[in-house]
Amino acid sequence: MAEQAEQLRQWIKSQSIQAQREVLESRIKGSRVVAITSGKGGVGKSHIALNLALALQQRGQRTVILDADLGLANINILLGYEPSYTLWDVVQKHLSIRDVLQKGPLGIRIIPGASGISRLASLDAEEISGIIKGFQDLESECDWLLVDTAAGIAPGVLSFVLAADEALIVTNPEPPALADAYGLIKSIWQAQGRVSLQLIMNRSASVKSGEEMGMRVINLTRKMLNQNVGFFGAIREDSHAVQAIARQTPLVLLYPASPAAQDIGDMADRMIHRIKPAKRGRWEQFIYRIGMMWPSGPKS
Ligand SMILES: Nc1ncnc2c1ncn2[C@@H]1O[C@H](COP(=O)(O)OP(=O)(O)OP(=O)(O)O)[C@@H](O)[C@H]1O
Ligand SMILES: [Mg+2]
Repeated sequence: MAEQAEQLRQWIKSQSIQAQREVLESRIKGSRVVAITSGKGGVGKSHIALNLALALQQRGQRTVILDADLGLANINILLGYEPSYTLWDVVQKHLSIRDVLQKGPLGIRIIPGASGISRLASLDAEEISGIIKGFQDLESECDWLLVDTAAGIAPGVLSFVLAADEALIVTNPEPPALADAYGLIKSIWQAQGRVSLQLIMNRSASVKSGEEMGMRVINLTRKMLNQNVGFFGAIREDSHAVQAIARQTPLVLLYPASPAAQDIGDMADRMIHRIKPAKRGRWEQFIYRIGMMWPSGPKS
């Protein structure tokens, strides 16, 4: 990681003054970048990202999802469509971010990531500054960027987490998922990430048991790593979630009164009321940091 940090510094130095200024300028605005991530796969990240985005939108918060899972595009599968373009087309064919944006239910918008994301580090200053501008434009008319990441602690995944303002770490009560959540927090700690961490206990038998289980992980990280992780909330195990996913229709729209939809709605309320407004310029800084952190350069 120290080597990576040095690479980052070198990369910053190599960028034009103009590109640096554009990224480092910050003005006052309340838009935030929240990564939704996990140590173990299949714990519910994409489902939570999509439904949280819709719950925020229902509360008048304009929300964009960046589908940052490079292996499998997830959000489009949950919604049952095939994206026409991805971030790759922005990088390669110089389309604008707006050209690749997909419209989702209730007016949420989705940026299909695909391999375009892993190419960010290989772009020159002019190209990256073009992409940053696209995000800047979008940021000025949005309140939240939710980033649905792949699972695990590979550097390409961690870069999204470390670049965000907040990371919601999703786990479930099963021991492998709990162990991997702890492992992910440890990796973020080892990388000296300054992102604020919050735990989501998905698929819990009850809200109370989810909280208890979540607090065990949080207490362990405090004791072992001296790292503060907040408890963001529990989402109950709910067969409606499985049905909604099978029907490729988001839970909060199909079964708004279901326990899991209610829990996600409560989370959206907490996001709006608890999280402090950020400085403007978060989105372009997010993309800038990804570009800097991607350790191994282009990857197809
Ligand atoms: N609250 C819940 N109750 C019941 N089942 C759930 C709940 N949340 C998620 N699931 C189940 O978990 C499965 C995986 O969800 P999802 O695809 O969102 O996980 P993921 O973490 O994004 O996976 P990946 O790591 O592959 O990207 C869903 O298909 C659904 O069956
Ligand atoms: Mg997923």
